Amino acid sequence: MSGTSIEIKRVAGALGAEITGIDLSENLSNEVFSDVHQAFLDHQVIFFRDQKVTPEQQKAFGRRFGSLNVHPYVKGMDDHPEVMEIIKEPEDKINFGGGWHSDMSFQEKPALGSVLYGLEVPEFGGDTLFASQYTAYDALSDAMKDLLDGLYAVHTAEREYSAQGNSAQKRESMAIEQAGNDVPAYEHPVVRTHPETGRKALYVNGAFTMRFKGMSKRESRPLLDFLVDHCAQEQFTCRFRWQNGSIAFWDNRCVQHFALNDYHGQRRHMRRVTINGDKPH
Ligand code: SIN
Repeated sequence: MSGTSIEIKRVAGALGAEITGIDLSENLSNEVFSDVHQAFLDHQVIFFRDQKVTPEQQKAFGRRFGSLNVHPYVKGMDDHPEVMEIIKEPEDKINFGGGWHSDMSFQEKPALGSVLYGLEVPEFGGDTLFASQYTAYDALSDAMKDLLDGLYAVHTAEREYSAQGNSAQKRESMAIEQAGNDVPAYEHPVVRTHPETGRKALYVNGAFTMRFKGMSKRESRPLLDFLVDHCAQEQFTCRFRWQNGSIAFWDNRCVQHFALNDYHGQRRHMRRVTINGDKPH
């Protein structure tokens, strides 16, 4: 840690820390950036309170970590295609991100991280859960680790974004395009090695992982169901209670998240910037 005045407080045993003493609307000095980067690697998801950032400032923060993603199915803001507005109106029944997942795992180079800014959050409910996939991997038996070693899984967006997908029936408050019939599929290792920390993390999720490479969906189901269930055990998680002006920044290479849908009748408005990552190995 450098001599800056930022404070870091852990929020749970497996992952998550709240950082104070930083204004993310400012251009961070290299020293402060380096502290934030280290906290991100150490805690996997970091939280900030009482922020006020424009889309431009949110993008500038994200760009310190890498290039920004333009979502292939969810339309971004007119002037800022890299900024997704995640909105649930009081009359909407289904929310965005309401299941355990890792952002963009259906792409060849899935997201490094996501920066989510709460503009208007419900008076109650609407928390986000995060689960450490390092801890989920570490908790497996040696025999299961050996079994997963070298196994690849196929990820696609079909369950969420195809004509039959979950998003197709979703709210009108977000502009979500349907994927065509030939949704691309990518193979990623079931256990990935984090490119910066060198730690191993489980890398399958219930939203985008369809089957294991070389196996049918039916053959894959028992083990995949076990892993998807295992990934989200309570002891691997932390829970973030949003306030207006909160920001969460999570590492999709080792974290899954779940937006709770428990605030019917209220509005929730967030903005997400997603940072491109590399091909998992
Ligand atoms: C997401 O999956 O990126 C949405 C998370 C949230 O709205 O809490």
